Amino acid sequence: MKKGILLIMLLLSGLSANENRMLFYGNCIACHGEIRKPSAPHFAEIKGYYMLKYPTKEAFVEKMSKWVFRPNEKTAQLPHAIKKYRLMPFLSIDLDTLEKIATYIYENNDFMIAL
Ligand code: HEC
Repeated sequence: MKKGILLIMLLLSGLSANENRMLFYGNCIACHGEIRKPSAPHFAEIKGYYMLKYPTKEAFVEKMSKWVFRPNEKTAQLPHAIKKYRLMPFLSIDLDTLEKIATYIYENNDFMIAL
């Protein structure tokens, strides 16, 4: 019985880490993952700018998720990217989901093309 509970807990903790990853790959990589003909900056670059300004996980997740929720030229950390690619479109993804995605970006450095 105890083993069963442990197994379920392990599965659930694995799933939540995996969920963030799936959300990230499902929603963001289409534009941000293309290397040969990019239509948006790579996440390694975006993460670098956000880490410089918001090094704590809390601030990083809050600022990035809020920006993606309402892309805005005035609050952008990469204004040069807007000049190059135009402002990122509004994606109609809820803030809760965007926080999970921003958490994935903070915790990982694996931003390559979809699996
Ligand atoms: C339809 C294409 C597209 C999709 C899908 C997309 N982005 Fe973007 N994103 C862009 C473009 C283009 C830029 C560069 C221009 C800009 O910063 O607005 C950008 C810039 C950004 C920036 C930089 C903001 C800043 O402060 O300058 C962040 C953060 C970001 N995207 C996060 C995400 C996340 C997270 C997802 C997935 C939920 C996502 N993007 C999905 C096109 C996209």
